Amino acid sequence: AQLNVLARKAGKLYFGTATDTGELGNTTYYSILTNTSEFGQLVPSNGQKWIFTEPLQGVFNFTEGHIVTDITQKTGQLLRCHNLVWHSQLAPWVENTTWTAETLAPMLEEHVFREAREWKGKCYAWDVVNEALDEDGSFRESVFFDILGPEFIKIAFRAAARADPGAKLYYNDYNIESPGNKSAAARTIVKMLQDDGIKVDGVGLQSHFVVGSTPSIDEQIETMRGYADLGVEVAITELDIRLDLPANTSNLAQQKEDYKKTVGACMQVKECIGITVWDFWDPVSWVPSVFEGQGAATLYFDNFTKHPAYYGVVEAL
Ligand code: XIL
Repeated sequence: AQLNVLARKAGKLYFGTATDTGELGNTTYYSILTNTSEFGQLVPSNGQKWIFTEPLQGVFNFTEGHIVTDITQKTGQLLRCHNLVWHSQLAPWVENTTWTAETLAPMLEEHVFREAREWKGKCYAWDVVNEALDEDGSFRESVFFDILGPEFIKIAFRAAARADPGAKLYYNDYNIESPGNKSAAARTIVKMLQDDGIKVDGVGLQSHFVVGSTPSIDEQIETMRGYADLGVEVAITELDIRLDLPANTSNLAQQKEDYKKTVGACMQVKECIGITVWDFWDPVSWVPSVFEGQGAATLYFDNFTKHPAYYGVVEAL
């Protein structure tokens, strides 16, 4: 059986994938992408980021995002939307302008409102704020944090709730999948919003892991439960597990175990509502371009045969 069918049978909302505009022209790729037995949810890996959506101040452009999101209108797949505020892939003008709190707050609010309003009623969930934390659990320096402090997160969540009251609003980050300072800080962000009566519905665990050092199933379960105990749902939002190239029998076998335990953790936590892989085909994965010497992080090889990890996911679901 196929991934989304199995996930739904197990009571999850979806098994999904990220995808991007450059790869939709490959017909084999596209038929797997839009096979709702395999993937019940899509997310654009780039098109909804600031650099595309507001490339110049006040100039909004949603065409790149819609190329991916409109697919779900035809297929009936759920849509995750990603993301409204992030320090990376920002339009240059945001960092090149001299802001004060009085000028940045309304600009940020307008950006979030306009973008979330564009997809109103279409997103199952929005990653409202992405990667606001450093590894030690302190806030990451960014134009938003440096000028507004943690208030920038509140501004973003309030504006998103106003623009699209039906979307689940998520805080999304990496290295918040195991116990430690960073996952504790992610819980503090949720509490900060809740204490102010601001709508927050979920924590997204990116789960960009490395073969052989993926957190244990117990660590992942414990950490998911820590968020769920605050009354929010969780989702695995960007799963991939990279290995040191070349792929061989032994690192692929370990990758299978690492995928299996990660999906298995979500299966054991009722509040983990779905799993998204950060694309499913090795040639289009972001991994090799960012992590030198690493790759083969997804479920399908270049020739569209399945990694052993695909069957690890099947076993876990
Ligand atoms: C990545 C995309 O996949 C790449 O195509 C792009 O060049 C850089 O960003 N965390 C996130 C995602 O939240 O938005 C990132 O996506 C991967 C890491």
